[in-house]
Amino acid sequence: MGTDAIIEVRDLTAGYGGEPVLRDLTLDVARGRVTTIVGGSGCGKSTLLKCVVGLLRPWSGTVRVAGLDLFAMDEDERDRALSRVGLLFQQGAMLNSVSVADNVALPLREHTSLPPAVVREVVRLKLELVGLAHAGDLLPSELSGGMRKRAALARAMALDPDLLLCDEPSAGLDPQTAADLDRLILRLKDTFRMTVVVVTHEIASIETIADDVVMLAPGGRLVFQGTLAEARAGAIPEVADFFARRTPDAPASTRPLLDFLAAGGRDHPTEART
Ligand SMILES: Nc1ncnc2c1ncn2[C@@H]1O[C@H](COP(=O)(O)OP(=O)(O)OP(=O)(O)O)[C@@H](O)[C@H]1O
Ligand SMILES: [Mg+2]
Repeated sequence: MGTDAIIEVRDLTAGYGGEPVLRDLTLDVARGRVTTIVGGSGCGKSTLLKCVVGLLRPWSGTVRVAGLDLFAMDEDERDRALSRVGLLFQQGAMLNSVSVADNVALPLREHTSLPPAVVREVVRLKLELVGLAHAGDLLPSELSGGMRKRAALARAMALDPDLLLCDEPSAGLDPQTAADLDRLILRLKDTFRMTVVVVTHEIASIETIADDVVMLAPGGRLVFQGTLAEARAGAIPEVADFFARRTPDAPASTRPLLDFLAAGGRDHPTEART
């Protein structure tokens, strides 16, 4: 790994008190690619993102973003560094008391001294980008779930980030809307040459957007990091199981089909590993 990593996590241990949530985690996120972070509920995926955006200080170890150790700088420096990072929170986290347009304008007003007319224009462009040009005057509560996710994405994109972090962007969306959101994320990545990190449980989504995969296990342990192809190759049982959606007690008769699917449907079922 090394030089083209935009996120470098080294020996990271972090938590909220009591037992650590992340344990001795070391991983890289490569610049210009889409990395999906997978792993069971509660294994620390959102916690990892919090460390990456400086919201949670590591107990030990380091997190570098674009070569900068966010916790070794003062607050102003950190704010500046983080203005290059867009975050789409798991809960959307839009301010409900102000319009969608004002939500998108928020980071611009906070981090730039652009005149109001320019802010308005940037907001218009960002909303157009996510297909919400008509929705700027609405309140977040007046949007559908998919629209709210896209509005949050527009806000995360407000400052043209080099790095976009999305925590379960398609959770709670119907498959079509989720697929649309995936395509949008890919388009944003290609158009703006962004690095994108997406926490997701959706295998269809991973297959569509992922270049790389990071898998965490309960206890905040790293199970796997590598390319999507390597993940699908199934050398590590936990990763293979995830891609096969195989439960430990799956009947033997379903195994060949599951292995076939785990292999990305490329190998003949009868030749697949059991
Ligand atoms: N603010 C907090 N205070 C205390 N404990 C927390 C806090 N946020 C998360 N935790 C705990 O940390 C652990 C990991 O939570 P985290 O949200 O990182 O998991 P996750 O992998 O994102 O799960 P999910 O897939 O359900 O979103 C959980 O045990 C959770 O209870
Ligand atoms: Mg989470």
